[in-house]
Amino acid sequence: MLDLKNYVASIPDYPEKGIVFRDISPLMADGEAYRQATDKIFQFAKDKGVDMIVGPEARGFIIGCPVAYDLGVGFAPARKKGKLPRETVMSEYDLEYGTSALYMHKDAIKPGQKVLVCDDLLATGGTIQATIDLVEQLGGEVVGCAFLIELEDLKGRDKIKGYDVLALMQY
Ligand code: PRP
Ligand code: HPA
Repeated sequence: MLDLKNYVASIPDYPEKGIVFRDISPLMADGEAYRQATDKIFQFAKDKGVDMIVGPEARGFIIGCPVAYDLGVGFAPARKKGKLPRETVMSEYDLEYGTSALYMHKDAIKPGQKVLVCDDLLATGGTIQATIDLVEQLGGEVVGCAFLIELEDLKGRDKIKGYDVLALMQY
């Protein structure tokens, strides 16, 4: 078993002074570490009856797609503004300054489908909350949320109380 924290680079003062940025690119670049991480999420999900994976742009795709492939289910992206060509639903969330929004195609999830939401990192929880909201607007049931990393000080978990949450690493 690898210690996955050895594959996360910590960059002080990025993107602003006082922030330590946790960068997953070394983990993605190592085949064994990437497989171990996605396999742990597969193990978490395999008995949940998952029908679809949803991941928010962009790093949610990097985690969600291999898990969807392993489970043998589909993947639907939650995308930033102006990226999806057909009818969408939208959910807004707070950023440090101002707001942002995520969108999904209206037919991306069928009512009643069980959905696992995947992302690389849980910080304030705004992104995951918006992604869950999109799935639920479409009538999907969120059966779990999986992350590589949780930044505990930012208390994102408080925003997703009541959901089954897996985070492989805590900082
Ligand atoms: C990062 C990260 C998560 C989100 C976590 O994505 O990949 O999706 O922030 O932050 P939160 O819990 O405070 O919402 P970002 O919005 O930087 O987009 P990117 O994946 O396109 O870089
Ligand atoms: N690393 C990567 N993405 C992030 C971080 C971080 O520390 N904080 C918010 N999004």
